[in-house]
Amino acid sequence: MTPATFQALVGMVKQRSGGVINPDQGYMLETRLAPLLKREGLPGLDALAQRLQRPGSESLAQEMTELLTTNESSFFRDGRPFEHLRALLPALHRARPAGQPLRVWSAACSTGQEAYSISILASELAEADASFAARRVEIIGTDITAAVLERARAGVFTQFEVQRGLPIRTLMKRFSQDGTRWRVNPDIAARCRFEKLNLLGDLRAVGRFDVIFCRNVLIYFDVPTKARVLAALAERLNPDGALYLGAAETAMGMATRLTPLPGERGVYALGEEGASLRA
Ligand SMILES: C[S@@+](CC[C@H](N)C(=O)[O-])C[C@H]1O[C@@H](n2cnc3c(N)ncnc32)[C@H](O)[C@@H]1O
Repeated sequence: MTPATFQALVGMVKQRSGGVINPDQGYMLETRLAPLLKREGLPGLDALAQRLQRPGSESLAQEMTELLTTNESSFFRDGRPFEHLRALLPALHRARPAGQPLRVWSAACSTGQEAYSISILASELAEADASFAARRVEIIGTDITAAVLERARAGVFTQFEVQRGLPIRTLMKRFSQDGTRWRVNPDIAARCRFEKLNLLGDLRAVGRFDVIFCRNVLIYFDVPTKARVLAALAERLNPDGALYLGAAETAMGMATRLTPLPGERGVYALGEEGASLRA
């Protein structure tokens, strides 16, 4: 692959998804795009770059972009945000009128582990408190990559995937075995729906949320893109809600409306209005 091909391909990816691919990641293009090249009968990445110059290549460019996303996820990833949420959801429940659902968004949800972890948490809260059990919790998972959304909707995970982050008792209680795989139980799946959405696009159609998880995707964006996405997420957050970022991500110095909750790494609320749990 020539340097010009590399620049052209990574430029298309950045424009479509915001994802920055560095020059030392050329191998990733070679390996991830090999099946696409084979299917299209193209001898290599230089030929792909040429093909993508032709009019009518948008769906191929989109497919290439999705193949180059990183989709790693796990149940209850990093632990701590879910413990914070365990206290925040009942506080939001008490603050809302009866009949109004709590709305949670797993933005960049990948294969759905984050959305299902939140739903499992909601079930645990409902089982401990009859008043919370009467509260509807809606969880919307969105991602740019069609293939991961298909997997998220199926709600079926391998032994390896369930072993990462799920306590065995939770696995036995919330999943049923399906051959060598594990299927999330219908009551957990019922709170979750999954939709295709690009974080760089217009986010208004998803509505407003009490809780937004946007974790481990901003790390792939450059600073202006991060700032733009954080500002758009802040617009989608209810005044007393919270935004959770990944362990390596920060909104500091980027979106003035988002302020970190004291003592909580990666949890943000809107300005002075604050999340329900601000001290
Ligand atoms: C590493 S996964 C994170 C999954 C989950 N949030 C977690 O922390 O475990 C990142 C996801 O972001 C998605 N993604 C990348 N760029 C995106 C964009 N512009 N809009 C929406 N999703 C995007 C990828 O498809 C991928 O599934």
